[in-house]
Parts: sequence; C-alpha cells; structure tokens
Amino acid sequence: MKTTTVNAGTKPRARKRKADAPGVEIRPMRLEDLPEVYALGQRLFTAEKLPTLYRSWDEDEVMKLFSAEQETCLVAIAQGRVVGFALGSLMQKRGSAWRYGWLEWLGVDPAWSRRGVASRLVRQLTSLFIERDARIMLVDTDEANEAALAFFRKLGFGQELRHIYLSQNLDSHPEAIERRERERDAADEEE
Ligand SMILES: CC(C)(COP(=O)(O)OP(=O)(O)OC[C@H]1O[C@@H](n2cnc3c(N)ncnc32)[C@H](O)[C@@H]1OP(=O)(O)O)[C@@H](O)C(=O)NCCC(=O)NCCS
Repeated sequence: MKTTTVNAGTKPRARKRKADAPGVEIRPMRLEDLPEVYALGQRLFTAEKLPTLYRSWDEDEVMKLFSAEQETCLVAIAQGRVVGFALGSLMQKRGSAWRYGWLEWLGVDPAWSRRGVASRLVRQLTSLFIERDARIMLVDTDEANEAALAFFRKLGFGQELRHIYLSQNLDSHPEAIERRERERDAADEEE
C-alpha cells in the first residue's frame, strides 16, 4: 500500500469561494460530537475505497486523538448535525526547532461535498497550527485517493513523498499454525 505525504508548499492558500457552504458552521469539536464524527468516518473510510484509513479508524482512535489534541480538532455543523471534521495534532521532535501540524483525519459528508466544507475546515486548522508555532503542515492519504489528492493540491500542498506499507498474513506463520494446533489439542483433551 502506498501513501503519499504532502507537505505545505509555497503556493498561496486557496481563496475563499463565494459559494462556500452557507449555513455551515466550523467550530471546535466537543465530546458530544464524538459519536457523530465516528459514524461519519465509518461511512467514509470503507474497506473497499480507503483500506488503510478503514483499518485505523475506530472509536478509541478518535477518542484518544480528541483527548490529547482537543484544540486542533474541528467539526463542520449544518442543520444541527456533524457534516465534516478535521482532526489534527502537533508534533515536535526533542531537540528540533521544527514543530509540525499534522492533519490526521479529514472527512466531509458526501451530501455536502464540493461546497467548500473541507476547505474551510483545513483553513481553520491551518490557522490553529500557525497560532501554535507549527512551521510545517503535513497531510497524508492513499495514493489512489484521487479526490483527496486533488483537494490537497488545490489548497497548495505539495512536496509529495511516497511511503509504502507492506504486510504479511500471520495466519500462515509457523508460530500461528503451531498455536492453533496446541489449542485444538487442548480442546480435544477437555472433551
Ligand atoms: C476529500 C474531501 C475531504 C473533500 O471535501 P469537500 O468538502 O468536498 O472539498 P471542497 O468542497 O472544500 O473542495 C475544494 C476543492 O478541492 C478539489 N476537490 C474536492 N473534491 C474533489 C473531487 N472529488 N475530485 C476532484 N477535485 C476535488 C476541487 O478543486 C474543489 O474545488 P471545486 O469544488 O471548486 O472544484 C471529501 O471528498 C472526503 O471526505 N473524502 C473522503 C475522506 C478522505 O478521503 N479524507 C482525506 C484523507 S484523511
């Protein structure tokens, strides 16, 4: 699995469009938004379309990120419902002057797509990162996720780096086979 990491480039930020989703409020995420954010992510990050994101999206992941990085978690609200989210975190290596803002999760309800909701979420998150001294903003996505790549490039992200995920099926590992055999033997002895 390849993912593409896209660093903030030198292009100016996209200008706000006139048609930017009227009636959509961007605000800090609250604890009570968690179930809706999680449910929206589950609809977006499916095993078929976005397998890498699907594997790591779960309630604990959202809860952990929200608890640790509440200040950089935003939601988009329309008609009282969560229609989008941008969950970010700040990273700094010990001894390094560079502070990074990482957009970890971004999603918009398909019913609200192409109305500038994600652009508004990312612009506000960018401002939050800048206020907190981040000097580089990172985003990443699967290289097959053309919509997200088009979106990030439109917003001025560039300097793309590839990162490859490799995997191995552990079911056929000798230790796993041995373990199953031991369990089977133990079950047989119990009978
Ligand atoms: C990618 C995503 C966040 C975009 O949200 P959005 O609210 O529709 O984005 P915006 O309306 O702000 O789009 C801004 C620009 O990005 C580009 N863009 C957005 N979606 C696009 C798509 N499907 N195809 C091509 N370009 C696209 C366009 O240039 C668009 O401007 P335009 O509508 O004036 O042409 C949304 O499609 C989504 O949630 N996808 C599934 C989850 C995901 O992939 N998240 C990112 C990785 S964590």
